[in-house]
Amino acid sequence: MKGKTIVLGVTGSIAAYKSAELLSLLIKKGASVHTVMTNAATKFIAPLTLRTISGNPVWYDMFQDFETPDVIHISLARKADILVIAPASANCLGKAASGIADDLLTTMIMAMQVPVLFVPAMNEAMYENPILKKNIGSLKAFGYNVMEPDFGYLACGREGKGRLPNPKAIVCEIDRILSRRASLKGVTILVTAGPTQEPLDPVRYITNRSSGKMGYELAKAAQKRGADVILVTGPAALAPPPAIKVINVRTTNEMFHAVMEHLDATDVIIGAAAPADWRPSQVAPEKIKKNGGLDNIELVKCEDIMKEIGIHKGNRITIGFAAETCNLIENSRYKLISKNLDFIVANDVSRNDAGFESDYNEVKILHRHGLTENLPYMTKREVADEILDRVLPLLRTSQSTGL
Ligand code: PMT
Repeated sequence: MKGKTIVLGVTGSIAAYKSAELLSLLIKKGASVHTVMTNAATKFIAPLTLRTISGNPVWYDMFQDFETPDVIHISLARKADILVIAPASANCLGKAASGIADDLLTTMIMAMQVPVLFVPAMNEAMYENPILKKNIGSLKAFGYNVMEPDFGYLACGREGKGRLPNPKAIVCEIDRILSRRASLKGVTILVTAGPTQEPLDPVRYITNRSSGKMGYELAKAAQKRGADVILVTGPAALAPPPAIKVINVRTTNEMFHAVMEHLDATDVIIGAAAPADWRPSQVAPEKIKKNGGLDNIELVKCEDIMKEIGIHKGNRITIGFAAETCNLIENSRYKLISKNLDFIVANDVSRNDAGFESDYNEVKILHRHGLTENLPYMTKREVADEILDRVLPLLRTSQSTGL
């Protein structure tokens, strides 16, 4: 936190008075804090309070006399290491999720190229409103961080979920997000993503339901942490992430060769793809005719990419996924050991609201030394961050032991 520049956004919620305590904690930790308030926030707490604690001017109006030639929403966005909006009102969350930029704070959100953390605080009924839930889901899907409010006594006189979390907990979350930035600088990570297609003839193929979303989120999250990322992807209807080396493949054999070619340059390999295990033994040169062309399909085994990497593991960190419809733990543990992985991310792909195609997942992480972690239901972007958080300590151990 020391030496970091934090922009603190304060919006119109009764919890705005707690932003003073948060600000004071950040200053004590050595951060430089610039505060931006919405017009409504100034009704709950005086700008003078936040200016006095931060020792910096407080910005609250797009057309304020800034006494500087700088375009303030751009210059603050450029100098910030993080933007924290606490409390974030339903109005602010809704506007940010829809790309509305009609005041200084929402305009600045659009200009931010560093992490943004929203800390919602509001009445329980408002927090449970499906529109708000959808807006929070959209913000997470865009890569923003959103903290869960606390359960407890609310200003409306009732108990419920909607309280601003304890400022100390907000500081911990800020620390966690800041420590992720550049944490993978100098590390090369190869991620596999998507399905493969195994042709039967020029127009037909065997494939599966993988959309590539999980692998693409991993690649983007690793790149945000400063890693050099190679994304080896099967056919996916997703835009190639910027600033990432993308290798497009079609079959498991092509994915195998693309991965092996880059093996030496790679420190971490994450197998999020769903490569086919079987392919037709022969590919017909012409379209097979409906009548008389085919009675059965003979299949042969494809390469098992992660298993092969396990054999040549060296000091690389290798992480696999297990897509299961039954016996999740037993089957995943078998794959963890047989593919010589550091950990495996087990997901139940029989669910409609998680696993294949969905923007969300609920996974268990099985470590090779026996620990199993159950992660809650979250966006694939958040799953990606949870996975990368667990890669860091493994990298440190492998570097310090020279294994
Ligand atoms: O792409 P999405 O729609 O976002 O869905 C995400 C996902 C469900 C595909 C992902 O979360 C996932 O579970 N990926 C692994 C799918 C899979 O092939 O599981 P598996 O249990 O069959 O394979 C185990 C591991 O071996 C995986 O790391 C897989 O990448 C790897 N493998 C599998 C087959 C093969 N021939 N070679 C491999 O390397």
